[in-house]
Amino acid sequence: MFYFIKKKLSFGMFQGKKPYFCIMISSFSAQLEAWYREFGRDLPWRQTSDPFLIMLSEFILQQTQIVQGMSYYLRFAERFPSAESLANASEEEVMRLWQGLGYYSRARNLRKAAQEVAKAGHFPKDYSFIRALPGVGDYTAAAIMSFAFGEPYAVLDGNVQRVLARHFGISEPVDTTQGKKLLRALADEMLDRQHPALYNQAIMDFGALQCKPTSPLCDACPLAETCQALKEHQVDKLPVKAKRTAIRDRYFTYIYTRTEDGKTLLRRRGSGDIWQGLFEFPLIESERPLTMAEVEQRLNNQWPIGNGRWPITLVARDVLHQLTHQRLHADFYCLTLPASQCPVSNGGKSNVQWEKGQWVEEKSLDHYALPRLLEKLLERLKRT
Ligand code: ADE
Repeated sequence: MFYFIKKKLSFGMFQGKKPYFCIMISSFSAQLEAWYREFGRDLPWRQTSDPFLIMLSEFILQQTQIVQGMSYYLRFAERFPSAESLANASEEEVMRLWQGLGYYSRARNLRKAAQEVAKAGHFPKDYSFIRALPGVGDYTAAAIMSFAFGEPYAVLDGNVQRVLARHFGISEPVDTTQGKKLLRALADEMLDRQHPALYNQAIMDFGALQCKPTSPLCDACPLAETCQALKEHQVDKLPVKAKRTAIRDRYFTYIYTRTEDGKTLLRRRGSGDIWQGLFEFPLIESERPLTMAEVEQRLNNQWPIGNGRWPITLVARDVLHQLTHQRLHADFYCLTLPASQCPVSNGGKSNVQWEKGQWVEEKSLDHYALPRLLEKLLERLKRT
């Protein structure tokens, strides 16, 4: 093992740091695993080696905090204990159960992945098959291979990147091709090939709990002695990112439209934008926030239910909702119509996005998967 590492590290990207890496390799994984045995979290998906349940947990945990993901995992695992049960469920049911987790393409991909596994008849212990499933990237494939099958695949997520970049003093930006290659090679090198599941869980938990993005617990760190970033006072500088992701601001004005006999107008969002397949209220999207007068003007000119003067009331203004690359600013109005004013078609001429709108009973709104932002807005409405 030692000879192999020494030989490999003599070339290419590790040149210059070779002696340092060579000394630390065996103790790095052993120390992480010892730390994990003492401090690692007891999480429900760690009690199983069922590849479907592990896939389920990893889909849920993409972009989701553990605390939030836990209740969803337990609910999904109870309702869908196998790939077959999820494969046979309707997309609507899956979306409803997913509601509130965000990034809904994950739910659709999860169901499609379950369908492919069900078609295969069993969950194959095959990296290429798993990596080709919808929504499965390098990280998730490595997680399933190691946690479910004990195969030597190193996971490399944000936590692992941070631990490695700090411990080995990698100042190469982690989001460049060169930086990614370097970290991938290092992650593969460091993996405890005898205990890949244990090691992978250990380094992820270590990143989440000990080597945290801010205020890492360096004073009580079992790896402090060999941590390059600590030695060079670079802990808060690493890992380095080359690009800052541009955030786009979007301005949404929702008109919660209800009739006096208890119906509300909903439409299903299409593809090619956020929240594909989720339901929402009539929406005006604009380049900047609209004044109430502008909203009224747009409604009265182009509202699908006809040209009348419909009184709107403001429920909430500039409610912020952050997505990965977008910041949504939402204004929320309420419009109450007499029951007779119910047609929703004006031949598609409206600039209010209501196409394929349907009237639904307000009391059955919770049967529809709504984006979290709209749940927040409805909570505001209940308080008015
Ligand atoms: N984040 C993503 N997958 C995880 C896992 N299996 N354990 C802990 N945190 C995670």
